[in-house]
Amino acid sequence: MSFDRTIKIAPSILSADFANFGAEIRAIEAEGADWVHVDVMDGHFVPNLTFGPPAVKAFRPHVKTFMDVHLMITPVDAYIEAYAEAGADMISAHVEAGPHPHRTLQAIRATGRKAGIALNPGTPVEAVEYLLDLCDMVVVMTVNPGFGGQKFIHSQVDKIARLRGMIGDRPIHIQVDGGVDPATAPLVAMAGADVLVAGSAVFKGGSVENAQVYGANMRAIREAIAS
Ligand code: DX5
Ligand code: ZN
Repeated sequence: MSFDRTIKIAPSILSADFANFGAEIRAIEAEGADWVHVDVMDGHFVPNLTFGPPAVKAFRPHVKTFMDVHLMITPVDAYIEAYAEAGADMISAHVEAGPHPHRTLQAIRATGRKAGIALNPGTPVEAVEYLLDLCDMVVVMTVNPGFGGQKFIHSQVDKIARLRGMIGDRPIHIQVDGGVDPATAPLVAMAGADVLVAGSAVFKGGSVENAQVYGANMRAIREAIAS
């Protein structure tokens, strides 16, 4: 997939119907999702538990766009191969997940998958400065990871802008994850983000049977940015 900085919406299936992932993924893609964001949580790095590699493997055949797997787990290196095998297109790990994020990114790249590095809200942007040449994406968390539906942390907009300057011409995506909705999306897009994860703002009010709501919710985000 070629690199560009156009705005991409990546719905987080953390807000989908957990009894119906295949149909939910097909519905959000039919309604215009650019990527599918899969939140992996271990009950240790974050206070919640979600998807092991077999679950991610089961999602894979339903994803026709790009499967973006966000690992909120520590230790992380031991699981990279399994999530790559499960069919992730992009694997993001947290810079806070261990003492050797540089090695983690090398391990992701070694699987042939795209590599992302994620920053918690309290982590300064400089933490990724010497990792950028191993990254295809930096994820700026705009909530504390662990749950969908939390309030956007506004201090992170400045972090996005500083990151954008640090990246310069390098082909590295900036993803924003947490509390993205039509009110906050323009702020992060203006600051330089191009991949917008949105869980509750995409899935709210809709269902597989009423999937046009997902489409309307995504359009509301895109239109807020364009206006
Ligand atoms: C938070 C996850 C997010 C989350 C986003 O730990 O990484 O991807 O699901 O959900 P909303 O958009 O509801 O904040
Ligand atoms: Zn996420």
